[in-house]
Amino acid sequence: MIRACLWRAPLPTLRSQPPPSSSSFLPPHYLPRRRNSSRFLGSAMVSISPSSHLLFRQLFEKDSSTYTYLLADVTHPDKPAVLIDPVDKTVDRDLSVVRELGLKLVYAMNTHVHADHVTGTGLIKTKVPDVKSVISRASGAKADVLIEPGDKIAFGDLFLEARPTPGHTLGCVTYVTGDGPAQPYPRMAFTGDAVLIRGCGRTDFQGGSSEQLYESVHSQIFTLPKETLIYPAHDYKGFTVSTVGEEMLYNPRLTKDMDKFKDIMANLNLPYPKMIDVAVPSNMVCGFQDATSKA
Ligand SMILES: [Fe+2]
Repeated sequence: MIRACLWRAPLPTLRSQPPPSSSSFLPPHYLPRRRNSSRFLGSAMVSISPSSHLLFRQLFEKDSSTYTYLLADVTHPDKPAVLIDPVDKTVDRDLSVVRELGLKLVYAMNTHVHADHVTGTGLIKTKVPDVKSVISRASGAKADVLIEPGDKIAFGDLFLEARPTPGHTLGCVTYVTGDGPAQPYPRMAFTGDAVLIRGCGRTDFQGGSSEQLYESVHSQIFTLPKETLIYPAHDYKGFTVSTVGEEMLYNPRLTKDMDKFKDIMANLNLPYPKMIDVAVPSNMVCGFQDATSKA
């Protein structure tokens, strides 16, 4: 196990935020830009402070409706990149984007041990051996890097902060972009299955707990600034992005009180996940077992 390029820090003190503007809940379809951008129009000069160093791509795997996220610091000479929640079936697509954009993939990360698909992290490691797999220590899974609450995962001048958000599974984490110079604004939260757009992950297996999920979301995600962008691990309705403020207002489950939430989650009557018996054992070793037969 290695802990290279990671540093542990306490979860940041959350700053009180100004009320969001009317556009705050609107997800941008461009690279997030620093909040202190300024324009001087009318004198043929347009001055905008440097936009974030971030290159960002949202990728989709249709069989499991999984989103994979590619983030890179394109101002760093090496253009270091991370993939969040890659899927085994789409590894070749993801790696060709990395290659075409001239990026250097350093981390292949999972938000949790998935039950509905095999992670791509193992297969990626067979194709790009220097890449390190990342998952939370609390997941009980094997990986090159086992992260703990408050850990920061650096790539170039950018970093992701790991927030513990158990409840869907015991080891779920939400990766949140940093708060500071050069970091993207608004911040971006990769919530895995803890918060889905207008929904949340089920809590009836893999050490799940509806009470714990409710606590996690309200303490670790809904305390972020309301304009923070939410990028979930899945969407089944065609949504691509939401915001903390939007989900605090419109999430049909997480806006309820704890008792009502527990009642909703106890009565979802969902079928047994059809991939779970294949996916979970493979994902407990970050897909590496599966990868050796596919490589
Ligand atoms: Fe999941």
